[in-house]
Amino acid sequence: MHRVVALYRSSVGKKILMAFTGFIWIGFLAGHMFGNLKAFQGAGAFDSYAHHLRIFGEPILPYKGFLWAFRTVMFLALAIHVLFSWQTSRQSWAARTTGYRRQKSLNFDFASRWMRWTGVLILVFLVFHILHMTTGTLHSPTFEAETLTQSFAFHNLVTGLVSPWMAAIYFVAMVAILFHLWHGVWSIFQTLGGNHPKYTGWRRPFAVLVSIVIFLGFVSIPVSVLTGIVTQ
Ligand code: HEM
Repeated sequence: MHRVVALYRSSVGKKILMAFTGFIWIGFLAGHMFGNLKAFQGAGAFDSYAHHLRIFGEPILPYKGFLWAFRTVMFLALAIHVLFSWQTSRQSWAARTTGYRRQKSLNFDFASRWMRWTGVLILVFLVFHILHMTTGTLHSPTFEAETLTQSFAFHNLVTGLVSPWMAAIYFVAMVAILFHLWHGVWSIFQTLGGNHPKYTGWRRPFAVLVSIVIFLGFVSIPVSVLTGIVTQ
């Protein structure tokens, strides 16, 4: 217990937990991005995938049991990630106002500022996105709620992105994801031990590759809906 508290208090411990929770979210993003690509296979494939997420583990688990367990893990990971980034940001602001200024490179300062702003943007997007695609609160009257036997995720996806304004919101948010991952993936490597000399040369290109693949995979959906490639 003592060790857990010490880890929580130390800035190294916070960095490790931020890296770990960031890693969990990158796994989610990759999975969500591949899942979204099922839209290119049409309504049947997309809705069946969305429905299976809800009935996964039945009858051992209740309807949506797996989904709620998954949501809980993702929520906790996000809460830890946001809380610690807020705390470390406050620490660095406090260090500045008390006149203590660490020798940081301009490059690092720039990257951490980017992480904060893109992070806030992603958080706002996430709330908007759940109210848009999951609950339908910010969707249009065409939103169709799922039933115990059927999902209408494809219909909601297409009708939700057909407006250029909505597509633009998604595009901007995905640009924020691109930049957040660009530095984030590199940073995770650094924190979780991937800074071994053997991998140093690979860290940057790997981070760039992961962020670009996730960015392109996600933006392909609003772009395809807007251009009529993915249609009802
Ligand atoms: C162009 C980009 C994106 C599209 C088209 C998209 C599409 C969707 C759709 C259609 C759903 C509802 C799925 C269902 O009902 O089963 C959904 C849910 C969700 N999306 Fe996205 N998404 C995008 C980007 C993102 C990003 C970047 C994040 C995270 C930062 C994200 C996080 C979520 C979450 C947390 C849910 C709710 C899952 C649940 O608990 O039911 N999405 N998305």
